[in-house]
Amino acid sequence: MDSHLQSYLVLVMVTLATFMIPTFAQLTPDYYDKVCPEALPTIKSVVKQAIIREKRIGASLLRLHFHDCFVNGCDGSVLLDDTPFFLGEKTAFPNINSIRGFEVVDEIKAAVDKVCKYPLVSCADILAVAARDSVAILGGSQYWYQVLLGRRDARYASRDAANVNLPPPFLNFTQLLANFQSHGLDLKDLVVLSGGHTIGLAKCSSFRDRIFNDTNIQPKFAATLRESCPRVGGDTNLAPLDASPSEFDTTYYKALLYKKGLLHSDQELFKGDGCESDQLVELYSKDPYAFARDFGVSMIKMGNMKPLTGYLGEIRYNCRKVNY
Ligand code: HEM
Repeated sequence: MDSHLQSYLVLVMVTLATFMIPTFAQLTPDYYDKVCPEALPTIKSVVKQAIIREKRIGASLLRLHFHDCFVNGCDGSVLLDDTPFFLGEKTAFPNINSIRGFEVVDEIKAAVDKVCKYPLVSCADILAVAARDSVAILGGSQYWYQVLLGRRDARYASRDAANVNLPPPFLNFTQLLANFQSHGLDLKDLVVLSGGHTIGLAKCSSFRDRIFNDTNIQPKFAATLRESCPRVGGDTNLAPLDASPSEFDTTYYKALLYKKGLLHSDQELFKGDGCESDQLVELYSKDPYAFARDFGVSMIKMGNMKPLTGYLGEIRYNCRKVNY
């Protein structure tokens, strides 16, 4: 073969390999085992302490991972503050005055960087592990699942992308499903991941329309909620997403059977007409093992959304800022 052609082919192959390796690198459960075996136990211990201080923080950490993954993949972008170059996701409509837990993420990051002696653990992985640990702490070991790791952190965030990609609570079933499908998730993922609403709280402004206008709501339940969430005012008053907002359990699904879903989007999953979504809600309402198993599977699926791996992205020193 002509030597020019040969060197040209080598160049093409090297270039292809350079670009393909990171694209196809897979997340693995043992990513930090050799380089920093203390990383995961450290995250768990900080999450545990934070939950002891304030039970709700577990819910907030779970939601952060969801809001991270649904906007350009699980790349820690949700944690970035605004810069002169971009408006971040924190001020997007679904996030502003609503997502929380950033101080705990900072605390985790400082603790892992100290124990690993170097910033090895990405902020995106911290969110994935903190979400899993929160679920297992608030639900018990049956809700534990193995998190896949090796994500790297984005150098960019987009408020517009967050506004487009995060589902608002007034969507109907068809719209919720379309949103999940646009992220490569299916109907079962939608029903089981919405089970994340078995923990945490929502603001009056997130469920006011439901308690004043929806018809598929239990009347007494709606009346009680209207006491702390009036037609006008009280926007930031909080209500629990289910009757046991500090326990990761099947209470959320049981409530849906009685038209006691807090958000309009929650009740959309159970209409009582026997459709596929109804059947899943019924199953999870009576089978915590099925819920635990399927929740773990769907969380891993969500956690696999467009991660940055290999040479893409970076390992941030500070989860709120890109490195330089
Ligand atoms: C299906 C579409 C979803 C919609 C429309 C939705 C919407 C909402 C809304 C409106 C709130 C209350 C925010 C506030 O009032 O400040 C909320 C809270 C929450 N969401 Fe979702 N969500 C969805 C899916 C999920 C998923 C997939 C997860 C996790 C797997 C999740 C986890 C949470 C948690 C844990 C809270 C409580 C957070 C806290 O107390 O700080 N949500 N969600």
